[in-house]
Amino acid sequence: LNYLTPKSRQEVLDLLVTGLKRLEYRGYDSTGVAIDSPDNKNIVMVKRTGKVKVLEEAIQEHFSGGDYSEPVLTHIGIAHTRWATHGVPCERNSHPHRSDDGNGFVVVHNGIITNYNDVKTFLAKRGYEFESDTDTEVFAKLVHHLWKTHPTYSFRELVEQAILQVEGAFAIAVKSKHFPGECVASRRSSPLLVGIKTKTRLATDHIPILYGKDADSGKPQVLPRSESTSEFMPLEEKEVEYFFASDASAVIEHTNRVIYLEDDDVAAVRDGTLSIHRLKKSLDDPHAREITTLKMEIQQIMKGNYDYFMQKEIFEQPDSVVNTMRGRVRFDGNAIVLGGIKDYIPEIKRCRRLMLIGCGTSYHSAVATRQLLEELTELPVMVELASDFLDRNTPIFRDDVCFFISQSGETADTLMALRYCKQRGALIVGITNTVGSSICRESHCGVHINAGPEIGVASTKAYTSQFISLVMFALVMSEDRLSLQQRRLEILQALSKLADQIRAVLKLDSKVQELAKDLYQHKSLLIMGRGYNFATCLEGALKVKELTYMHSEGIMAGELKHGPLALVDDSMPVLMIVLRDPVYVKCMNALQQVTSRKGCPIIICEEGDEETQAFSSRHLEIPRTVDCLQGILTVIPMQLLSYHIAVLRGCDVDCPRNLAKSVTVE
Ligand code: G6P
Repeated sequence: LNYLTPKSRQEVLDLLVTGLKRLEYRGYDSTGVAIDSPDNKNIVMVKRTGKVKVLEEAIQEHFSGGDYSEPVLTHIGIAHTRWATHGVPCERNSHPHRSDDGNGFVVVHNGIITNYNDVKTFLAKRGYEFESDTDTEVFAKLVHHLWKTHPTYSFRELVEQAILQVEGAFAIAVKSKHFPGECVASRRSSPLLVGIKTKTRLATDHIPILYGKDADSGKPQVLPRSESTSEFMPLEEKEVEYFFASDASAVIEHTNRVIYLEDDDVAAVRDGTLSIHRLKKSLDDPHAREITTLKMEIQQIMKGNYDYFMQKEIFEQPDSVVNTMRGRVRFDGNAIVLGGIKDYIPEIKRCRRLMLIGCGTSYHSAVATRQLLEELTELPVMVELASDFLDRNTPIFRDDVCFFISQSGETADTLMALRYCKQRGALIVGITNTVGSSICRESHCGVHINAGPEIGVASTKAYTSQFISLVMFALVMSEDRLSLQQRRLEILQALSKLADQIRAVLKLDSKVQELAKDLYQHKSLLIMGRGYNFATCLEGALKVKELTYMHSEGIMAGELKHGPLALVDDSMPVLMIVLRDPVYVKCMNALQQVTSRKGCPIIICEEGDEETQAFSSRHLEIPRTVDCLQGILTVIPMQLLSYHIAVLRGCDVDCPRNLAKSVTVE
């Protein structure tokens, strides 16, 4: 950072800690920070097991003193919050990791270096001793080894050579005692962006990519005329702050101008100059990276008056579903336009089949809309968990259309599946909530679900917006089918009422809380339904598991008699979704199978449906909507129920144990 105004090291630490708090939802096992010592001769690190708050306290203890309040003009600090992959969460395994006990090079890393054992063996033979169980530590030591053996290399070249040796996924930032005031960062498969804050408006929208080994001068390398990069100069600002971060929420309070780095970009900051390097240039590589202006607002990533982000996000759904439809659905003319996909619709209509691929909650949004997609597109629709899809080496053809559904747009399994399908020539459609994410950028076309940033680890509003996005897609595909017009109209009318109906469902909050009081001490909760509501059962059970650590199972009511019925007795809590739709009679059969085994189910049913309510111990009534949108209204009580059970059980709602919001490792 070359500061706009001089900053003390204490202010730098504050800035890093606030950034970590914004990123905490991505991992919260342990944390750490590295800054320069007051004499600039050393790097000081503080690490802690646990959440950022613990680190913050440790920092206050460690750095309160005159030396750290001295203002400086240039300073590099790095920090990390971890979601453990290799090595248990503890201080020793938390980042930054160092190259040697003199802290020559310190590294923060997301991802997994898959060949770390080979690199470790190589370095161990050369006398390096390892102090952690992580894959990351090998990177710090590798850079150190290269520095020792290639004393003329620049900092950027050292990192560049190191990333050539490592395999796997990484977003990495390196700071060095030997290169004060410099920072080098790079990525492969894990997301990384550069935020740029300047006093005045930036004079350029791009910065050039410097190709090849000779790019170290910071000036564009001389390329053949047609490839000249000279219209763009490196960003040489006198008063500037640069931020490397794994997502935009960490930088948005400082700047909305960011560059999304691509795989194997090496970004280096030196003397206030940011340059982006790549070792090789192939024909279709671009000349420059674009500086994007983010639309995100800081309020969107603040909790406001709510106790938890998840609670806020549940209650935002009347607005987020409208935002998903905004500018796309015209209720008066029954028209739907999905701008990011419209040019591809003719091609999609000619396809062999639709594949919907995702993980976790995003996968459930595919399960929830499959039936409607089959009905309105009249195409075979496959829904796939990304990890299983890859394990099976599923055959994919050029005339397949593959949808990749992901809130974050960064889930490694989903991204790998995308690349697998793209290589085989399929058309790639991204359904994501994160503009600029890897899935967005690597898709041919797609739909931004526009739910706004989702911070709670358990997904809520993203699910309902993914659901609506897929419904809108189904409506677009059936626009010219005469026989389907009546059905389309019915769905469009229901969409127009949805926000109000969600508001009505949210009013059940206190009733759901009462229910939670009855349930929270139980060990298990079975959630049953079928047809359009099977996805709600899966998603409801996932929410309960994630948030409350209680066992919960989403059961297809049709399968009840084939096994799960054995779990039912008078003490097993059962929740059933029984709505007046084509599977009502079958659901009632399942209900009676449960009651005749002394089960006393809680029922989610339609408003005023007394006949069904008579079979229940307690019930929650939801407004009537068209069958294919019921899943939106039935999932909300499940979100609220898991939330309240989690609170009653004393669980950390926004940061469930062992989980992370965005899983960028396979
Ligand atoms: C993680 C999160 C889940 C999420 C899943 C897929 O497991 O904890 O809440 O559903 O990843 O994430 P994505 O960003 O691809 O939707």
